[in-house]
Amino acid sequence: MCGIVGAVAERNILPVLVEGLKRLEYRGYDSAGVALLDGDGTLQRVRRPGKVSELEQALATAPLNGRLGIAHTRWATHGVPSERNAHPHFSGNDLALVHNGIIENHEPLRARLKDMGYLFTSETDTEVIVHLLHHHLDALGDLADALKATVKELHGAYGLAVISAKQPDRLLATRSGSPLVIGLGLGENFLASDQLALRQVTDRFMYLEEGDIAEIRRDSVQVWDLDGQPVQREQVQYHEGAEAADKGAYRHFMLKEIHEQPKVVQRTLEGRLGLDHVLVEAFGPQAGALLAKVRNVQIVACGTSYHAGMVARYWLEELAGIPCQIEVASEFRYRKVVVQPDTLFVSISQSGETADTLAALRNAKQLAPGAGGYLASLAICNVGTSSLVRESDLTLLTQAGPEIGVASTKAFTTQLVALLLLTLALGRMRGGLSATVEAELVDELRRLPTRLGEALGMDKTVEKVAELFAEKHHTLFLGRGAQYPVAMEGALKLKEISYIHAEAYPAGELKHGPLALVDSDMPVVTVAPNNELVEKLKSNLQEVRARGGQLVVFADIEAGIDNGEGTHVVSMPHIHDILAPILYTLPLQLLSYYVAVLKGTDVDQPRNLAKSVTVE
Ligand code: G6P
Repeated sequence: MCGIVGAVAERNILPVLVEGLKRLEYRGYDSAGVALLDGDGTLQRVRRPGKVSELEQALATAPLNGRLGIAHTRWATHGVPSERNAHPHFSGNDLALVHNGIIENHEPLRARLKDMGYLFTSETDTEVIVHLLHHHLDALGDLADALKATVKELHGAYGLAVISAKQPDRLLATRSGSPLVIGLGLGENFLASDQLALRQVTDRFMYLEEGDIAEIRRDSVQVWDLDGQPVQREQVQYHEGAEAADKGAYRHFMLKEIHEQPKVVQRTLEGRLGLDHVLVEAFGPQAGALLAKVRNVQIVACGTSYHAGMVARYWLEELAGIPCQIEVASEFRYRKVVVQPDTLFVSISQSGETADTLAALRNAKQLAPGAGGYLASLAICNVGTSSLVRESDLTLLTQAGPEIGVASTKAFTTQLVALLLLTLALGRMRGGLSATVEAELVDELRRLPTRLGEALGMDKTVEKVAELFAEKHHTLFLGRGAQYPVAMEGALKLKEISYIHAEAYPAGELKHGPLALVDSDMPVVTVAPNNELVEKLKSNLQEVRARGGQLVVFADIEAGIDNGEGTHVVSMPHIHDILAPILYTLPLQLLSYYVAVLKGTDVDQPRNLAKSVTVE
């Protein structure tokens, strides 16, 4: 979604801002802009609908130069993607502001500001903030004081960065419900909505907390908390290699990230496996005592992370004997829930900033334990510094590294690994899992990176199969048991990046509707590990073939499913059934990738989608 970059330095910071915007492109956006304070003390601005490259072209013909500036990529919510709706927004000629998030009370504020004489030039909710700030600045004189007064009147979510021509030595920032991080340099400081934007200039960061206001100067940073009290926020050194934001030899980030899975799964396992059991300490110092009390699990997530949670439900009930409920966060957050005693609330998120998932966690935390509330909250997340992690009692970090492709791949498989670790830990503590089964699965987990590497060896075979889909408009994905969510994830990947309509069904539901759609124009994709459901699945496949449907089956080499007319089988290495959802995800990712390449779509930044959905 939207991205913010800001800088205050003694050099021309335009290249830093533009490079920062490029690094945020993966989040999804539809316009971009930059505002700088030039040498004459005048605010200059360039904005363009479309890609950052279009902004760059505009800047090439009319270059800006300045030592203080803010920049933004906008994902349209209020008002179409256009130059006048793009950020930065101005009030008069001396105040510029960029905003991530949504201001819910923008209509009454707009009416009030219009009555005061402010002229609006955009349809955005953001423009009310900059005029309101202007109004308070006139009265208070100091930018930080004016910003404190302004945010008191805002309802909604925001990450804001502000510069003023009248106070040319500082950059102001504040956040509530939308992340912001300060990048600390030598004699220069930076701001961004995601540290990735600033990895080119620093590896030292300071994360703003909810409600913080920061005044950033070249050589100092002052932060006030929600109550207006000065606070010190911790400085964090970021260790992930800068190469993460580089495609290397791969044509797309998505392909690179698919191929990284053996390595990142290995990393996610590191330090978490004893000889024959999962190390509960990996979940945090208080984890042992808390997890021992868990009798139920409630999982909440969105998108791909939700599918990971769906797989976990099968595991938790089968292996640990623990009842598990799972729900998409956007539904959960608005529903009155009945909480079973001793329920662990688990949120799953790649970014840790997804608005609905965060809201669900916050709602869950408001219910007191013992009075119908949750026992504790656990975040399974890929970003250690995210809001979700900071606000949860326990954390299990996935170690996928930055994921740039909008369509999630390595984040999903590392979430599955983390959830299986959780299942094994809970299973042992609740007595639902025998030591022998735990030891067997720990052993299988150790071998998993190698198995994933083998599965990726099928790359070229899957590329060939993808040709079957390039001209099609609809597809059906089938799976049974824990492979049903894998089929859902496969369908989601295909629709996200190739724009082909794809639906997933539990194979047993085929006869209850979707079979009516099956003909030679609607390929049916199935995942078929060799388990107790494989014979039933074979019957479902016959039902498809009898209607002239083309089958693509990713089948265990021992499953007894063979190539034939209208049936294209891709053989998969044999794997323990519990780990099969992780392995079978890989060919489905490759399939959607190659279909998208054949169709020529924007693989890493599919239309209308955002990497991190930080607004509702
Ligand atoms: C967006 C992304 C998806 C992601 C979902 C949840 O829709 O495009 O790839 O699965 O958000 O994101 P999270 O960061 O919470 O896992």
